[in-house]
Amino acid sequence: MEPYPSQRLSVAPMMELTDRHFRYLMRLISQRSLLFTEMVTARAVLHGDRGYLLGFNAAEHPLALQLGGSDANELSEASVIGEGLGFDEINLNVGCPSDRVQSGRFGACLMAEPQLVSELIAAMQARVALPVTVKCRVGIDRQDSYDLFREFIAEVASSGCKRFYVHARKAWLDGLSPKQNRDVPPLRYEFVYQLKQEFPDLEISINGGITEWSAIETHLQKVDGVMLGRAAYYNPALMFDADARVYADSSGANPPDLYSSGIAQPGLPEDDALLTAQIEVARQYAAYMDEEHSEGVPLSAMCRHLVGLIQQRPGARLWRRTLSSNVNQAPNAASLVETAIDLVVAHAQASASANNLVDNSVENNSVEKKISSEPLPSTTVMPRQSGSGCNVST
Ligand SMILES: Cc1cc2nc3c(=O)[nH]c(=O)nc-3n(C[C@H](O)[C@H](O)[C@H](O)COP(=O)(O)O)c2cc1C
Repeated sequence: MEPYPSQRLSVAPMMELTDRHFRYLMRLISQRSLLFTEMVTARAVLHGDRGYLLGFNAAEHPLALQLGGSDANELSEASVIGEGLGFDEINLNVGCPSDRVQSGRFGACLMAEPQLVSELIAAMQARVALPVTVKCRVGIDRQDSYDLFREFIAEVASSGCKRFYVHARKAWLDGLSPKQNRDVPPLRYEFVYQLKQEFPDLEISINGGITEWSAIETHLQKVDGVMLGRAAYYNPALMFDADARVYADSSGANPPDLYSSGIAQPGLPEDDALLTAQIEVARQYAAYMDEEHSEGVPLSAMCRHLVGLIQQRPGARLWRRTLSSNVNQAPNAASLVETAIDLVVAHAQASASANNLVDNSVENNSVEKKISSEPLPSTTVMPRQSGSGCNVST
């Protein structure tokens, strides 16, 4: 059986979030899913600092370059450059609703011009061998019927475009901010399902408001792929399951199992596989940060992506606070991350021993309370690396 294609699960393009550092972090968590750059305008690709705008680490593959624009020459030139740099897919943004984008006549307002989009895609495809794909909405403003959406897709598909990522809500171009446009217009998943039924040969990925595995798996029964945006950024640990749950059963391959390959943590409950995997990834990312830092990248520009990795568990608040507040004083990423890990592990150990007490029917109803209110005994905290410059108290 053919392995599932990478776009079966993708991480959405997000300006100011999915930079190359975040993508590297994602790749430590899921080896198979498709990653996207932030949107880069075709003009910036042609005239801007390419190293800065388009640089990526070889580990980030498979990686799609998202372009914005509405000029066929610029877009096709930019596609050629993207192909030359080694991207795996070129994607056209037909979904961004911001004013700046509208004034340049691209992004979501192109939903009103299916023929132009079709011509743009044809021009890009004529110049590159890579798949040229589209990310769009289900409509804009009052042009929000299923029929108009279907017509848009049919017209663009006539250019040869086979793969569409659909943010399943329309964009209100007049009156809603880009942020509101990600939440306010209702989700129309049924439009995307119907599209797949009518165009079974197109590869359709669904996007918008998908935050948990049960939803991902439900969508995958109806369409070819799921694209996660904010959920993958703000809760990257969601992606730990991606390779096993989305890709493994078809390819027959056993993806690297971070759960079982994690390093032993003294005192950590043996079954805390998720924390073990999180720690492993945090350490690998710290090594990456130190390497990039030595090339001049500020630690804060990279460390911000790590903040969401550990959450909703004892010690998570200290994890966040340590990584955010102490980053500017830290001599290096490794010591900063070790300090944050120590705090989380100490809390995990304390919680585990509290649970043991409860399991052994020790009469002490206030154990939980004690854990959260008392400072941890210093002996339960693993030794910190010296000179971290971090100033954290439990
Ligand atoms: C901060 C931010 C920046 C975004 N930038 C882009 C972008 O550059 N290109 C794009 O096509 N969509 C962009 N989006 C939209 C996302 O790709 C996605 O379609 C949207 O967030 C809905 O998916 P979600 O509910 O899973 O987050 C952005 C979203 C956010 C939150």
